[in-house]
This record gives sequence, structure tokens and C-alpha cells, in this order.
Amino acid sequence: MNICVIGAGYVGLITSLAFAKMGNHVICVEKNIKKIHKLNKGIPPIFEEGLKELLNECLNNKNVIFTNNLKKGITQSDIIFIAVGTPSKDDGDVDMSQINEVVSQISNFIQSYKIIVNKSTVPVGTQKYVKKLLLKMGVSKENFDVISNPEFLREGKAIYDFFNGDRIVIGFDSEKAKKMIEKLYEPFKIKMIFTTPETAELIKYASNSFLATKISFINELANLCNKVGANIDTIAYALGLDNRISPKFLKAGIGFGGSCFPKDTKALIKIGEKYECDFQIVKSAIKVNENQRILPVHILLEKYKDIKGKIVSILGLTFKANTDDIRESPSIYIIKELIKKGAIIKCYDPMATNEIKKIFPYINCCDNLYDSLIDSICTIICTDWDEFLTIDLNILKTKMKIPMIIDGRNIFDLEKMKEYNINYYSIGKGSI
Ligand code: UDX
Repeated sequence: MNICVIGAGYVGLITSLAFAKMGNHVICVEKNIKKIHKLNKGIPPIFEEGLKELLNECLNNKNVIFTNNLKKGITQSDIIFIAVGTPSKDDGDVDMSQINEVVSQISNFIQSYKIIVNKSTVPVGTQKYVKKLLLKMGVSKENFDVISNPEFLREGKAIYDFFNGDRIVIGFDSEKAKKMIEKLYEPFKIKMIFTTPETAELIKYASNSFLATKISFINELANLCNKVGANIDTIAYALGLDNRISPKFLKAGIGFGGSCFPKDTKALIKIGEKYECDFQIVKSAIKVNENQRILPVHILLEKYKDIKGKIVSILGLTFKANTDDIRESPSIYIIKELIKKGAIIKCYDPMATNEIKKIFPYINCCDNLYDSLIDSICTIICTDWDEFLTIDLNILKTKMKIPMIIDGRNIFDLEKMKEYNINYYSIGKGSI
């Protein structure tokens, strides 16, 4: 099939390449010229497992092109995916300006039947809204249908998830469009759920808010574990064996970050407000997370009271391992609090030191893990990078002024820390 994907961001790029890999002809339209040049040369703008290989394979097979020519993209395609950003506004509402802009632009080029697919995470009612907008712009109603098709890709596993997802959700109000989308996704052999556009739009928010709530629940429990001497990993394991609960998303730590959970939980609350539904559980999940992500600072201040002029090491900056993304990462909030208290930060991350410099230009970013430990009074682990598992604890002890670790991702074992005589704090597994 001939497909146009608008936006070569995270979702748009993966969507383009996945459809191209399946033998479709994909035109990915992007505004950023630099990005287009890089992509057409086979250089991915983000780090994602398998992305470079897939991009080059699709370019070599001539199944994908990247361009800023929207007219070409629309006129040469049957299905148009909108995959532009829908960031949070300050009040938590969804910023629809990019969607509005794209819809208004594509309306100029629709001369024959097209299916417009909303891939961006958008509020309930957007499918109807886009339809209205296109009609208002003068597009004939016979010439288009609008589908809602939210994505559930995890960063770091996005390509795997596109080909092996748990479900594909399609919100439709036209049999003709439904049949074409069904045909497009059929080769992926993933369970498809066909429903109304409103239901599809809500599934995305429901899914992310539920997972975020699960994380906040286990984190609150972890904090209690630390007080009563219980072990959160054993509790999570036991909970997970009950298949009504499932073992996933029960890993205690310093909370969730990233581009989706913080944004989508807030957006669900905003959507609820519009319809007088007060999402108290989701509100609490956010509140718990806001406290959880700065928990290491409280632990440190309980021990030292005054950390002015003291060096604190931050290991890991990204919101999770195997990505270069620091959006809403707990590390940012920890660094902010530490700076407020006058601490000197030294940090290390295998992927994201350039990114953190954009937020904190004056902090000390090290190219080497061990350099970031020199003279420090505490190491806070913010990301569960594999590299940290193999830290040589003897070297760590010699580098640090005082060997203290706050393990925000519970990557270490209490017994091992005892053996090395390190002052160690976990999230819900006790401390030494
Ligand atoms: C998430 C959803 O999983 C995905 O379906 C959606 O489309 C986009 O948002 P992503 O943001 O890539 O994906 O990350 P995910 O792996 O879900 O983790 C989110 C955050 O929760 C991370 O900060 C992670 O460290 C944290 N987390 C996750 C926990 O603290 N504990 C867990 O048990 C799981």
C-alpha cells in the first residue's frame, strides 16, 4: 500500500519503517530539513535498538523516503498517518497545535479518497474533531475517513513492540476505512480490536494511567517495607504470581518518567475534568511519583542535614535504560533539589550527558563512570543501566570520599553491599 506518515519523531519514524519493512511504500514527511538529510543518509536521529539497521534496510529496498514535500506525501498515498507531537501544556491539557496545523495543511491536497489515521496520543473526541476540521477546510466528505489508532510502543523496544505488540487498537466509523486498515495490519498477525473512535482514544490513556498507578502503588509499598523491615522484591514476586495482578510493572524504584506516563496521566485527569469525572486514583499516582522521584534527596539529607559544597554523584540520567531520552527523568528532579541544597553534582550516563547539559549547563558531566565518583559523599543510582551492575566496588570505595550508595533502581544486592562495607540504601529492601 502507499502510505504517508507525517512526523519523523519517535512514533512516526518507527511507524514508517515498520510499514516499509512489510513491503509498503512509505513517504515520511518531516519539517526539519536537517533530520530529513540525516535520515535519507541512513543516520537515525534517536537511539533505539535495531533502528539504524532497519532504516538502512528500508532505504536500500527503496520502500521509504523522507521529505518535506507534504503535497507529494498526500497525493501519492492512500493512508495518511498523523504522528506529530501532542505535548502537555502547563495545566496538563494536551497541546493540539501541531495536529491543527497538519490537518489544515493536508486539507489543501486531498483530491481523492484518503484515510487519515491519528497515531498521536490525542484527547477523546479528536477523531470527530479532525473530521469537522477537514470538512470546514472544504474537503469533500466522500474524500476521507478518519481512524483512531493509538500506539503502545516502549522506548528501547519500539521496533520489537511494533512487530510483536499485545494488540492493535482501531477506532473507526466507516466500514471502508476499517477494511483498508485491517488489510494493512493483517500481515503483523497481532490481535486487532475494532471499536468506536472514542473508545480507542481512551484505551491509550487508560493503559498508560493504569501502568503508572501500578508503579506508584508498588513504590508506596516499598516505602512502607523500608520502615517495617519487609522486602519489596519478595512482595512484588508474590503479588505477580497471582495472574490477576501479573508480575509486570511492579519494580519499585524512584518512579516513572519518560514522554508518556507523566503526560498521559495528567491528560486523563484533564479529560475527566471536562466531563466532571474526578480521577482521584490517577491524581494520587502522580502525587506519589512526584515524591518518589526525589526520595534519594530526603535519604541523603536525613544522613547529612547539610550538603552545601559536598560532591554528589549521579549515575544514570535517562528515564530508563537503553534509551537516550531524559524527558521527565527522575534524575532531573533529583539534580534540581541537590543544586537547591548547594551540592556539587558529578554525573555519568552512557548516552545522555549532552542532553542533561541543555538543562543544567554548569554541572560536571564525566565521560567515565569512575571519574564521576571522585571525592563524592554519595552515589545516587537513577537508571538501571547494565553497565552499573558490573561496577568494581573496590574502585568505587577508593574513589569516593565516603562510600555511600542510594540505589534508586534496586540494582544491587544488600548482602553484596554488606560484604564490601558500603553504606547502602535501597527502595524497599532495607539499608546498611
Ligand atoms: C510507556 C508504555 O509502556 C508504552 O506502552 C507507551 O506507549 C509509552 O509509554 P516508555 O515510556 O517507553 O513506554 O517506558 P516504560 O518501559 O513503560 O517505563 C516507564 C517508566 O516507568 C520508566 O521511568 C521506568 O523506569 C518506570 N518503571 C517501569 C518502573 O519504575 N517500574 C516498573 O515496574 C516499570
